[in-house]
Amino acid sequence: MSKFPKNFLWGASTSAYQVEGAINQGGKVPSIMDRFDERESYPKGITGFKVASDHYNHWKEDVAMMAEMGFKSYRFSISWPRIIKNTKGDINKEGIKFYSDLIDELLKNKIEPVVTMLHFDTPDFIEEIGGLDSHNFSKLFEHYSKVLFENFGSRVKWWLTINELNMFALAGQIIGVISEKSKATKWQIMHNLNVAQARAIRLCRKMLPEVKIGPAPNISSVYPASSKPEDYQAKLNFDQIRNWVFLDIVCRGEYSNWFKNFLKSINQEIEITNEEKEILKNSKPDFIAFNYYSTMTVADVTVEEYKKSLESKSDQQMGMIIPGVGKAVKNPNLDKTQFGWEIDPLGFKNTLKDVWDRYQLPIMITENGIGSKDVLTNDEKIHDDYRIEYYQKHISSMASAINDGVEMIGYMPWSAIDLVSTHEGISKRYGFVYVNRDEFDEKDMKRIRKDSFFWYQELIKNNGENI
Ligand code: BG6
Repeated sequence: MSKFPKNFLWGASTSAYQVEGAINQGGKVPSIMDRFDERESYPKGITGFKVASDHYNHWKEDVAMMAEMGFKSYRFSISWPRIIKNTKGDINKEGIKFYSDLIDELLKNKIEPVVTMLHFDTPDFIEEIGGLDSHNFSKLFEHYSKVLFENFGSRVKWWLTINELNMFALAGQIIGVISEKSKATKWQIMHNLNVAQARAIRLCRKMLPEVKIGPAPNISSVYPASSKPEDYQAKLNFDQIRNWVFLDIVCRGEYSNWFKNFLKSINQEIEITNEEKEILKNSKPDFIAFNYYSTMTVADVTVEEYKKSLESKSDQQMGMIIPGVGKAVKNPNLDKTQFGWEIDPLGFKNTLKDVWDRYQLPIMITENGIGSKDVLTNDEKIHDDYRIEYYQKHISSMASAINDGVEMIGYMPWSAIDLVSTHEGISKRYGFVYVNRDEFDEKDMKRIRKDSFFWYQELIKNNGENI
């Protein structure tokens, strides 16, 4: 098995709204995520994002933990509503200082910052210009990008545009990113996000020609539920709608023929201005970052099934049904996490190879991991051997993909420390570091090293050689 590259970016990820808390501190203005738990659609009995892991007040201690693990990189997101105060673009200096200090501390510890510009927490003020439904969205995002590049561009060498732009569009209601006021189709929202992403890449090229920028969708191989030709067709369609439509637009600069036909088949159109067409054409990324949790298995779908599905609640990973495309079904060949997400390390290798073969751009993994109800023992230990096993298998798969010629830049699994899941609370833990709080009891927020912390520390020390 070949070695991981010498400067491989071993690290882990978080996102601002899931880890920071402090929603009213430091001059931050409201975001759509601040009140997600107050919505009817938010699951009952779990915490929202107001306090999260209180990283905003523990960031130094958290970086020290990362340094102790030997991180070479840390992928985090900047919260747009901490940086920009309103549609006029006024800057919140306290917000700039918070991230500036964080970046300096990381660099001091030889940890490369990998920065996501937007990870689901759009500021409420975007509603004043029509929100995600509007073409103006991308212009506001471009201004925000400019502020980020001006303030952090000399220190941050790796930028990610929009986290999981595909899940934003396809599963926006579940993740809570789409405002209740929104009237546009998911395809128009997807387009407005695509243009925002393209504007940021274009501006980055102009302002910071020496840094690297890429997208960060959620990508996974798709299996047909059976060898029925209709199921295979559903697989091909899902490959497109879940994966390639979102990577083609950024890597190839225009919507694919498949996507144009799909829109026609469902009698929908997206409004694209000529200026936007030009912007999309000229915004190729330097690399592809993607999040991988599992593969997907799909079957053909009838109109009746689709109508019925509208009444039930689905999940961004497991439950997805699109008329004329297909529906996600369970894969009986795969083990599952405590939260029902399928575990497929071999699928990880195949997904890496598919993405590499299709686009021939270096790949960075920005999320991968297992959510579980970790148990804190009386002597303050967390024996998360299931997490170690999960990582062992996925990292072995990645090594095998590298051996087959896939060019990889780094691996930043989810998550560096415990944080609040998108819609399943803090009890669905992902971190290498335990944060001592429960759903509604914030306790002392003490940071405690899990067994996986020590395992990952050793792995990084050996640059993955012992996998
Ligand atoms: C990705 C997101 O979809 O998966 C993260 O980028 C999220 O924000 C992660 O937390 C795990 O999903 P969940 O629903 O278990 O939090």
